[in-house]
Amino acid sequence: MSTSRRMILVTGATGTVGREVVSQLLAAGQPVRALTRHPDRGRLDPRVDVVRGDLERPETLAEAVKGVDRVFSLAVGPRLGEQEAGLAEAARGAGVRHIVKLSVLGAGENTRRGVVSWHSAGERAIRRSGVPWTFVQPGTFMSNSLFWADSIRREGRVYSNFGDGRTAPIHPRDIAAVAVLALTTPGHEGKAWPLTGPEALSTGEQVRLLAAALGRPIEFVPISDEVARAGMEQAGMPAYLIEALLPFAAVVRSGKAAEVLPTVEQLTGRPALRFAEWARENAGAFR
Ligand SMILES: NC(=O)c1ccc[n+]([C@@H]2O[C@H](COP(=O)([O-])OP(=O)(O)OC[C@H]3O[C@@H](n4cnc5c(N)ncnc54)[C@H](OP(=O)(O)O)[C@@H]3O)[C@@H](O)[C@H]2O)c1
Repeated sequence: MSTSRRMILVTGATGTVGREVVSQLLAAGQPVRALTRHPDRGRLDPRVDVVRGDLERPETLAEAVKGVDRVFSLAVGPRLGEQEAGLAEAARGAGVRHIVKLSVLGAGENTRRGVVSWHSAGERAIRRSGVPWTFVQPGTFMSNSLFWADSIRREGRVYSNFGDGRTAPIHPRDIAAVAVLALTTPGHEGKAWPLTGPEALSTGEQVRLLAAALGRPIEFVPISDEVARAGMEQAGMPAYLIEALLPFAAVVRSGKAAEVLPTVEQLTGRPALRFAEWARENAGAFR
């Protein structure tokens, strides 16, 4: 294991956002260490210093933060507050000078609602550690559309309980771009950056853009929450996630998730990526 003092530790490095963070840090010439539970799966760039670790087992983290001076913290699930408390504590002990946390839009507010409350706990834990922080708070990811891949492939249909409600989905690469700026340029400590994509789109509009990218029609089929729940159960989604996602559908239908924020462009100096672009890049996953 290399211990260059400029080392950046990335957790969640094999996932949707973390993969982008790793590749953008490498492109910027930064030394990267990645934490994964499965280092043997060979999913990381050979330039990355790969360490085995599990956020559920804090005793595995001391080795991961040794010689590290910045951390990108990405944790998932209802226990992410506890997990990030353990990571922040290890980071403080190792003299880490900045933690950039992948959070969620609306975190930090007094909410008991699903995923937002998990991330609020993570933010509180990182603040408590005393290590300088930045919170990157994206709304819904464009990559959530991959959930439709099976029904598009099998039936040419998308089933959704979002009705005509709009969201402003964000490209994971834009989330990573903001995180990498926060990790590598001054002025982001103590800041929370709420982020969205550049346009508010209903599910029907996203489906039309996906159909254009695929070059074939896709039918949008509105469904009730009960039918959506059955579909998520059938897809093997964990119960805690289903319970967290169903109330969000009601927020989307009410029109309260449609806000478009200018933050990505303000921070990166270029327009946020559009859904049509994500759809073109990922069309292969739906064929
Ligand atoms: N989807 C959305 O619309 C949305 C919106 C806002 C915020 N978010 C937040 O974004 C995050 C999800 O990001 P993502 O989609 O990039 O994740 P993802 O693709 O689901 O990947 C999850 C990553 O977490 C790692 N991981 C899981 N459990 C772990 C553990 N116990 N110890 C160490 N690593 C662990 C996995 O690594 P290994 O398997 O290699 O160990 C993997 O790299 C969540 O915090 C979610 O709340 C999502």
